[in-house]
Amino acid sequence: MEYTVKSGDPEKQRSGCVVIGLFEGRKLAPAGKRLDEAAQGALAAFLRRGDIDGKSGQSLMLHNPPNLLCERLLFIGCGREKEFHEGRYRDAATLAARTLASAGASEAVSYLTELEVKGRDIAWNLRHAVECTEAALYKFDRMKSRKSDKKQSWRKLVLTVGKRSELAIGETAVHQGLAISAGMNLARDLGNLPGNVCTPAYLADQARELEHQYGVKTTVLEREDMEKLGMGALLSVARGSRQPPKLITIEYNGGKDEEPPVALVGKGLTFDAGGISIKPAAAMDEMKYDMCGGATVLGVLKACAELKLPINVVGVIPSSENLPDGDANKPGDIVTSMSGQTIEVLNTDAEGRLILCDALTYTERFNPVAVVDIATLTGACVIALGKHASGLLSNNDPLARELMNAGRYAWDRAWQLPLWDEYQKQLDSNFADMANIGGREGGTITAACFLARYAKKFKWAHLDIAGTAWLTGKAKGGTGRPVPLLTTWLIERSQDHRRS
Ligand code: BES
Ligand code: MN
Ligand code: ZN
Repeated sequence: MEYTVKSGDPEKQRSGCVVIGLFEGRKLAPAGKRLDEAAQGALAAFLRRGDIDGKSGQSLMLHNPPNLLCERLLFIGCGREKEFHEGRYRDAATLAARTLASAGASEAVSYLTELEVKGRDIAWNLRHAVECTEAALYKFDRMKSRKSDKKQSWRKLVLTVGKRSELAIGETAVHQGLAISAGMNLARDLGNLPGNVCTPAYLADQARELEHQYGVKTTVLEREDMEKLGMGALLSVARGSRQPPKLITIEYNGGKDEEPPVALVGKGLTFDAGGISIKPAAAMDEMKYDMCGGATVLGVLKACAELKLPINVVGVIPSSENLPDGDANKPGDIVTSMSGQTIEVLNTDAEGRLILCDALTYTERFNPVAVVDIATLTGACVIALGKHASGLLSNNDPLARELMNAGRYAWDRAWQLPLWDEYQKQLDSNFADMANIGGREGGTITAACFLARYAKKFKWAHLDIAGTAWLTGKAKGGTGRPVPLLTTWLIERSQDHRRS
């Protein structure tokens, strides 16, 4: 989609379609009121016929509105004006995009951007208009022999701002929205690709592709390299698979040479059957999404590179499959991690922490200012928080707060769970330094407790995205989360030079 930012009166728009908000009770938003005046009350008269009330989710396309210059007028229901907030705004922008995608206009001018979202400014409105539009237009038909043949005539969206002085802010917001969307789309594509296509080697190729496109530095460690480093935990998971494991590193250096990087560590488990502790068959196909943490890292780095953020970021993606095999991890096996700590593998399905712990130890060599790992780590997180919030656990409260705030701005929210010492006991093992599972209670927390033992040398946060990385049911598919949260966080960090 092509986006432009413009300030201009709604009644002067000679457009294929003008989009306006309508609150419950047929209450027109400001641009609608002005159009109604220009149309000498024709819009109010039309609305009185009762075809649309303004409830959230309603839309109505009016063709050839009388006495107006535009060819169409699209009313988007926004719900109760008093209850209008970020979510409703995004719903409205999404519905507008879906409606326009199947309409005949090639270009539209949106006045939804004028809607007041409490606590948010015009930059927020524009950025989210772009993100919602891009997300609504996303399709994944790469694996279909017949691509969707519906021709879309819509090409251009004009986003309006109230004053000329807001044009520059608007342009920046559109740029950010597009970069975040590009990162999300990459993460969604990689998640949606099946396990027989999106293998560890495929993820490594994607990282090399970023190197070609943006000049980031990509390094891929092979099994032998990992053996030399003593990554016994990661390698133990890969032993059950015929696909060779990869440890992918991507360095984006937009900041000063001597500036230590932020590190993002993403779980890149390209298919998780559970191993010898095999999963039940129902919905096992969804375990192709177990690499969404790694896909998030690739997506965020793409967004950083698109935005040319003045910051250094290193992405680390441990990647493997987890399958049952004659050489696979067995319950009770004890492996030695790169850190030297030994782990009793009581459940081979708790493999994410095994590949991540070695990746975290490896990350020490970059001297990171902060490390965030992203992983579809526990089914327990889906039970605790559902699909709306990612789980957030951290050994550093200011870092956790930064991420929470970034998530709220990005409308890609996280919710913090405790990482108290008391939970650590659940990982006691009779035979090794720790077990890889902590029992049924607090499964998301004990998984994070395990990782915390490998993150003692830096400020660290963990995002459990098991509930947020993909949707199930009819709308099954990757979401691209938490690319918005993390990119927003990095944008903010790169703007804030006071931080050390
Ligand atoms: N990848 C899964 C977590 C998962 C399961 C995410 C379902 C989303 C939906 C992870 O590797 C796993 O299997 N975790 C186990 C841990 C348990 C054995 C302690 C789980 O959550 O059941
Ligand atoms: Mn598993
Ligand atoms: Zn897994």
